[in-house]
Amino acid sequence: MTESTTIRWEQDETGVVTLVLDDPDQSANTMNQAFKDSIAAVADRAEAEKDSIRGIIYTSAKKTFFAGGDLKDMIKVGPENARAAFDTGTAIKNSLRRIETLGKPVVAAINGAALGGGYEIALASHHRVALDAPGSRIGLPEVTLGLLPAGGGVTRTVRLMGIADALLKVLLQGTQYTPRRALENGLVHEVAATPEEMLDKARAFIEAHPESRQPWDVKGYRIPGGTPSNPKFAANLPAFPANLKKQLAGAPMPAPRNILAAAVEGSQVDFETALTIEARYFTELVTGQVSKNMIQAFFFDLQAVNSGASRPKGIEERQVRRVAVLGAGMMGAGIAYSCARAGIEVVLKDVSAEAAAKGKAYSEKLLDKALSRGRTTEAKRDELLALITPTGDPADLAGCDAVIEAVFEDTALKHKVFQEIQDVIEPDALLCSNTSTLPITALAEGVSRPADFIGLHFFSPVDKMPLVEIIKGEKTGDEVLARAFDLVRRIKKTPIVVNDSRGFFTSRVIGQFINEGVAMVGEGVEPASVEQAAAQAGYPAKVLSLMDELTLTLPRKIRDETRRAVEEAGGSWAGHPSDSVIDRMVDEFGRPGRSGGAGFYDYDENGRRTRLWPGLREHFGRSGGRAPGGHIPKPDTDISFTDMQERMLFSEALDSVRCLEENVLITVADANIGSIMGIGFPPWTGGVLQYINGYEGGLPGFVARARELAERYGDRFLPPALLVSKAERGETFHD
Ligand code: NAI
Repeated sequence: MTESTTIRWEQDETGVVTLVLDDPDQSANTMNQAFKDSIAAVADRAEAEKDSIRGIIYTSAKKTFFAGGDLKDMIKVGPENARAAFDTGTAIKNSLRRIETLGKPVVAAINGAALGGGYEIALASHHRVALDAPGSRIGLPEVTLGLLPAGGGVTRTVRLMGIADALLKVLLQGTQYTPRRALENGLVHEVAATPEEMLDKARAFIEAHPESRQPWDVKGYRIPGGTPSNPKFAANLPAFPANLKKQLAGAPMPAPRNILAAAVEGSQVDFETALTIEARYFTELVTGQVSKNMIQAFFFDLQAVNSGASRPKGIEERQVRRVAVLGAGMMGAGIAYSCARAGIEVVLKDVSAEAAAKGKAYSEKLLDKALSRGRTTEAKRDELLALITPTGDPADLAGCDAVIEAVFEDTALKHKVFQEIQDVIEPDALLCSNTSTLPITALAEGVSRPADFIGLHFFSPVDKMPLVEIIKGEKTGDEVLARAFDLVRRIKKTPIVVNDSRGFFTSRVIGQFINEGVAMVGEGVEPASVEQAAAQAGYPAKVLSLMDELTLTLPRKIRDETRRAVEEAGGSWAGHPSDSVIDRMVDEFGRPGRSGGAGFYDYDENGRRTRLWPGLREHFGRSGGRAPGGHIPKPDTDISFTDMQERMLFSEALDSVRCLEENVLITVADANIGSIMGIGFPPWTGGVLQYINGYEGGLPGFVARARELAERYGDRFLPPALLVSKAERGETFHD
């Protein structure tokens, strides 16, 4: 018999066995080799000593209940070791199944987070009691890492709640529920306020259900809501693949598809066969590139970024107490709300008290919505609103130890608003600007303490977007960077840190994507195909519609300013094939984007997009115009869909490498996270630099393809020296 090293067997005088999950070698319990052996040993003992056992409780001695699969191992699984991974998973599942079918009541006392494998152990129990611990989360988030829950997660959720609920509530979105919301959604049976209450409830269940079994192990059991073999259910089934297809828009995201297939196929066979089907679909995912990309980005890179890999070391944390937000427009209002939500006092200043009050009203609107959905209480709403003081008077900024400026994008105005307040605020207050395009070093020249000046680039809408790009100016001090970093973490956003440069990292790189899409329109590519290519590549926003949202005049202004700066410095300006399309759209056709009522799209009187502007084909296609009889004309170019998608993806990835070369980007993790969370680079890629690592043929394959694109579409696709040398040395982009 193997020994149990990660699970303690504690049996009380009544015969109740508590299995305490407690891996001595790790801070959290994971599905590693030691767990595989331990759970097998526990199952053996339970079978051998069955007569003396009254019931079984799983709980953990760690802060979290169980952390799930070991991602360090998972990211290394390739076709060559897939079999071993498959066998480990099967062994663990068999042990859990032996305990589940022992004929004794089994309860999960979920004392902390139970995500992925943790919740799968809970699912292999007959009853689930969750401790309402702060920060505790329950669910199966595998899909967000490009995987599926193969510890019985698909098979059991389908049998617990039916195919539709399992897919929509648990599997396809990977929602992480608080214990209370897990209860509301049927993931657990009970919630307890204290650990003692949790264990009492677990024991009470055992007492009351000595013969307990899983519903699916009782004769005559049927999956709730039916299965595809039932004609009524089958009639609705086509909606699932169709909806999923629409949601994914053709993006190469294999996990949702495999989850759907495992759920539907598994529902039509017996339990054991369903487990095998689930495992097969998992193996396909875990050996593929997409899950590796997503694990790298959403686990390792995100952890590195949030834990402060880019924060200067050895500087003690100093909490901001009172923040001045200058400008109560769209961004200022959102920033004020995010700060107040973190419990920070905010003075929101605009040109007048009325204008500032409008900015505060935005928080009221968000909170009222949250209140109507039961997501906050009246008391919490009032408490948060009381933290925001709207004003038009600079004197009210006394005592502020941080300033976040969000007035119009104008250097002179920004200098003026800082000068207006610099003698009122604390003498060492942090000075931040939310500019999206103006170089930080130049802005810092307008304040009396340039070393305390830094860029804090939020994204719109601020309350929803998780990223903040922190921009270090030439004179920004390390202590200021650390304070800015801590402020961003305090308001629960993810900070990336970059060095100053025009457009920083995010605005500069997203500009490449947009320019590439626009350039294709100029080449006569069917505009609807350009949009479809962006969607199929996995971009959340289509390229021409995004350009319309940003307005065509803004990038044009930045382009012209950049050109002037480059030429003044004695450099030469190459321009971009999109330039003439943008100029003609604005100057010749008067179509500056959505806010101007017309752009690449037409808009109705309410500002809603109606259709792609038919004039695009007429004016930009080489043969142009609708063919007689209203046929859609053949595109003027024979560009393939792959070329269209890769032109967008490569343009951003290549410019990111240039950002690394130019020291605009400091870490690879910041590049990957910033590109996915800030500017909508497709998540399946794992981010701009991981996309290069994971490209077919690795870096050499990427370099060869970039050269091919350069040959066909222009020198902007030529691989930068850093990329070529890494490819030659057999390296990848990693910190
Ligand atoms: P907005 O036009 O909605 O708001 C600007 C606000 O500044 C207005 O309420 C205006 O009354 C106020 N303001 C003007 N002069 C002022 C003064 N002297 N004192 C105090 N307040 C004054 O603009 P938005 O979109 O909020 O942008 C603000 C800044 O954020 C800009 O620098 C912009 O580049 C940047 N940004 C914008 C993003 C966006 O998606 N809109 C994204 C990231 C950054």
